[in-house]
Amino acid sequence: MLILNNSINYRHHRFKKVSFNQSKSCVHHERQNVNTKSVVVVVSTKAHRRRKKIIIEATTATNEERSDSNVNNNQKATTTKTTKEKQAMKGNPFEQTVKAAEERQELFNDIAPVYDQLNDILSLGLHRAWKMATVKWSRAKTGDVVLDVCCGSGDITKRLSDKVGETGMVYGLDFAENQLRRAKEKMDDLLLMTNFNPNNTNNTNNTNNDSSAAKITWVQGDALELPFEDDTFDAITMGYGLRNVRDIPKALSELKRVAKSGKKVAILDFNNSRDETTNQVSGFILDNVVVPFAKLNDVEAEYKYLRPSIERFPTGPELVDLALTAGFKEATHYELQPGGLMGCLVCEV
Ligand SMILES: C[S@@+](CC[C@H](N)C(=O)[O-])C[C@H]1O[C@@H](n2cnc3c(N)ncnc32)[C@H](O)[C@@H]1O
Repeated sequence: MLILNNSINYRHHRFKKVSFNQSKSCVHHERQNVNTKSVVVVVSTKAHRRRKKIIIEATTATNEERSDSNVNNNQKATTTKTTKEKQAMKGNPFEQTVKAAEERQELFNDIAPVYDQLNDILSLGLHRAWKMATVKWSRAKTGDVVLDVCCGSGDITKRLSDKVGETGMVYGLDFAENQLRRAKEKMDDLLLMTNFNPNNTNNTNNTNNDSSAAKITWVQGDALELPFEDDTFDAITMGYGLRNVRDIPKALSELKRVAKSGKKVAILDFNNSRDETTNQVSGFILDNVVVPFAKLNDVEAEYKYLRPSIERFPTGPELVDLALTAGFKEATHYELQPGGLMGCLVCEV
């Protein structure tokens, strides 16, 4: 979505009249009310990160206007990219277009070789606890068929596989091929270690039969169009993926569609907190620890993407609203320690 000077284009609608200066603002979250033809847009100025909730009257655009607005969007995208800072920002966190999603796919392919190591160092190992909590909240249990969406190099997928055991079945889905390759290599290495017996000349790495973990199937696919039937999974997890998809409501409705009734979906991500201190601490860590450290590993541009992507991400209560709008029966957002830097949205189908 793009912000034009005095109007907002959202999907097939053109929303007119925004009564405050948007030139230095970013949109966090929009929700349409089809009945009243209005949209609630939560916007914050970048400088102060103060949020404003504004309601804009909607007029459905004609086909002509839509194509006009596409032209405007393209022009705006070109203009947006002229600033040096944004040019250097891989993954295009300021836009939610197909092109931005493609850039993100490339970004995640690029960082695959260093992603795990950086995660461990930058979170001081805490990401392991956050991921364990997410698996726990998904309520995955022995024998379940489960899915990890945006699985990346498979950290949460592996934990799910341990949880559901050899009678269960696990799918890990991601759109970045290099991440999936890394995930598979990691599991193969683990199996080698598990199956290796120095007294046995018959060591093998190609079976899960000896392991107490479930078999994992790696799937290259889009979170916005999950290649699974309705009502398939007993539990679903998603770690640090929702913030990166170009259409959060669509991703949520896909998660809901493929989960069985009464089951849980647990979504872990950075917390775009409503608490100013938390945001300042988080911003400080990202700018002064994460990005410089990423620079040492030659992936500075990729990690610069993080902060704006978090600032654009809906807050906990907004995520709950979006989940309920997507059709989940219940939704709760938990802030994770330390300092509520992370959040987990737990939804019941
Ligand atoms: C920050 S990584 C997280 C990986 C892993 N879940 C973890 O917690 O370590 C985000 C992952 O989401 C994937 N991703 C982003 N958008 C996606 C989409 N639309 N469909 C599938 N995967 C997507 C990226 O390729 C990337 O591997």
